[in-house]
Amino acid sequence: VILTKPEGDVEIQPLDNGRYSVALRPRSGGVFVDTYSCETSFPPEMIEFIAARCRYGFICDALSRHDNAEYIEAVLRRQIFAYFAPEEFEGKRLLDFGCGGGASTFALAGMLPKTEIIGVELDESLVQVARRIAEFKQMPNMKFLVSPSGDRLPPGIGRFDFVMLSAVYEHLLPAERRVVMPLIWSVMRTGAALFINQTPHRYFPYEHHSTGLWLINYLPDRAAHFAARKFARYNPDLNRKGTWTDLLRGGIRGGTEREIMRDLHDAGLPRILQPKRLGLRNRADYWLSCTDSSRYLPLKRALAALFRITDRLAGTVPSINIDVVIRKDA
Ligand SMILES: C[S@@+](CC[C@H](N)C(=O)[O-])C[C@H]1O[C@@H](n2cnc3c(N)ncnc32)[C@H](O)[C@@H]1O
Repeated sequence: VILTKPEGDVEIQPLDNGRYSVALRPRSGGVFVDTYSCETSFPPEMIEFIAARCRYGFICDALSRHDNAEYIEAVLRRQIFAYFAPEEFEGKRLLDFGCGGGASTFALAGMLPKTEIIGVELDESLVQVARRIAEFKQMPNMKFLVSPSGDRLPPGIGRFDFVMLSAVYEHLLPAERRVVMPLIWSVMRTGAALFINQTPHRYFPYEHHSTGLWLINYLPDRAAHFAARKFARYNPDLNRKGTWTDLLRGGIRGGTEREIMRDLHDAGLPRILQPKRLGLRNRADYWLSCTDSSRYLPLKRALAALFRITDRLAGTVPSINIDVVIRKDA
């Protein structure tokens, strides 16, 4: 099967193992392609449906994010079960805010089969993709809703016991953060928990999410925009041509625990939780458990000791990403 898009073709070929290979053949060298080929278990009509709703250069990424979801599943599993036992999710409601095409939602639904999971997303075409995949996978414990705008939630979504922001906070524009975070907080029940992960730490020396540049996190916005345009090592399309707002939407500015806590006001007191399960005692232990223990272990142990102090004194673990779970106390 060959699908034709304005930027190039998409070739789909059956494989002996019952899966399909997908290859992108851009029409010119100027078309940005993140990943050129992948293998998927989705049938051609599903690949076509997804390809019609994704940017050309990201078709293989979108397919892989669903089909080879081990990475995202591992990140979410590690975080939620470091803080809560599986039974604590049973019969509860979980909001997957910024669910994209549903990769995080499907991973959560797989590990929490007795939890009602609602995915909310701004981009309607991604919600269409998520709904179609949910039908294909026959996963009934979830629903997908479109946000009416970047600073609102779908009306009547109800209240939640858990909220997940999986690789989302960095994509919220600064003004949206101030509006959306209190809104999310307002739909959380007392005792509910907010999970934030895969968001770069705003003051880590290396910006790994959008540019691959050292020290850009310390530059003021105009200088950071200039540096991204001239020197970025990733996302050439976005970094060279995008406005500063485009770069912010792309996730160039991460966050800090302090910034997140600033916006969780109104009813209920936000409290950063410490992981107490899986043999962990605090967030520094958690950070250490997420690293590869086969390399530089003494150095990592020393860093964990430092993070224990920064967390106690300043409420932050300044590693490459912030991983934080915040509870809404009475
Ligand atoms: C990197 S994706 C993460 C998708 C998914 N959570 C995952 O882990 O695969 C971030 C998503 O957040 C969505 N998003 C950004 N701002 C939003 C907002 N204000 N309301 C709803 N969704 C938003 C984007 O459209 C994008 O699909």
